[in-house]
Amino acid sequence: MTIFVTGGAGFIGSEFIRQMAGSARIINFDKLTYAGNLDNLTEAAKDPGYSLVKGDVCDAGAVMAAMPEDCDAVVHFAAESHVDRSIVGAEEFVLTNVLGTQIMLEVSRQRRVKRFLHISTDEVGGDMPPDGWFKEDDPLQASSPYAASKASAELFVRAAARTHGMNTLITRTSNNYGPYQFPEKLLPLAISNVLEDRPIPVYGDGMQVRDWVHVTDNCRALRAVLERGRVGETYHIGGGNPLPNIEVLRTLLKTLGKPESLMTRVTDRPGHDRRYAVDFTKTTQELGWKPEISFADGLAQTIRWYQDNPEWVRRCRSGEYRKYYEQMYGAREAGASVL
Ligand code: NAD
Ligand code: TYD
Repeated sequence: MTIFVTGGAGFIGSEFIRQMAGSARIINFDKLTYAGNLDNLTEAAKDPGYSLVKGDVCDAGAVMAAMPEDCDAVVHFAAESHVDRSIVGAEEFVLTNVLGTQIMLEVSRQRRVKRFLHISTDEVGGDMPPDGWFKEDDPLQASSPYAASKASAELFVRAAARTHGMNTLITRTSNNYGPYQFPEKLLPLAISNVLEDRPIPVYGDGMQVRDWVHVTDNCRALRAVLERGRVGETYHIGGGNPLPNIEVLRTLLKTLGKPESLMTRVTDRPGHDRRYAVDFTKTTQELGWKPEISFADGLAQTIRWYQDNPEWVRRCRSGEYRKYYEQMYGAREAGASVL
């Protein structure tokens, strides 16, 4: 099986590649933005079936050149993924997340790709009421520019299925956590700050609820959807752990034996969604998937990973991981194969 993965150098895409390495031929097509880190793929890249192409999903020619004629599946992770960055500037989000998705669909159609798995987010459903659970057929009600771009992308995926008869699938995942997550999202930022006795910024009252799923569980679900999902369907993936941010941070501080005074209240994020919670009953019933890693175990494992990998964090923070590409691969044209 040949799988064309976009955004495979990021947090979730790299875990997907680590899980699939050895059982499929994988082409990782990635622009290597600030979020793309080849340090995440050191082991998986040794697999002879793996190759990397540096390129932009907005560049149809580059995608076409990189996608083999016999491509069985596209798994489309590539995106600008951080809400705060989308508030500062939304243009990159519209380009990569919306235009990039449409280009991926169009090239996949021309290449007659057998299956297109689009990775979306629970954030497209917007705020859930205190007892509400987001279901697959609920309306799209995005709050942030990031969520708006992901909701728009979903509509293009649906349109490709309906208009062109493409074999598409959509997954919507809740907040992922685990090793190799760039230290701008809440958990890796908080863990790496606390390990250096630096404060954790808590937005507003810290009572916003997120449903945490371990990245390993998420990628197991993605594989199940790719292999057994029904054509045209949307599947939710969650951890069943909706928790207020402040509670997550208290557990983290307790685990590391650090004082709660490290939590520092800062101005709230504009338009901040109060609660996300996904109902993933359909995924469990149809595909037999359910999360296996409890939040307590997953958080402990994640903390240990950041403790054991200070060099990874240091290279992320200093930007060294990017210099490394330049030294190793030199300046290459977009779309050129670099591995
Ligand atoms: P990430 O930010 O860690 O990685 C994104 C990857 O995409 C990087 O490797 C980056 O270099 C690449 N990329 C960005 N723009 C590109 C472009 N124009 N062309 C090619 N490659 C490009 O993201 P992540 O957290 O791994 O998320 C992956 C996907 O999952 C995204 O689509 C995101 O919306 C979705 N998602 C993430 C979460 C989460 O908690 N992280 C939750 C739900 C859904
Ligand atoms: P984040 O990791 O950015 O994911 P998302 O916004 O996609 O859910 O944020 C998770 C939650 O943590 C969200 O409610 C915002 C909050 N948050 C903070 O309180 N402080 C921070 O420094 C960050 C990055 C997030």
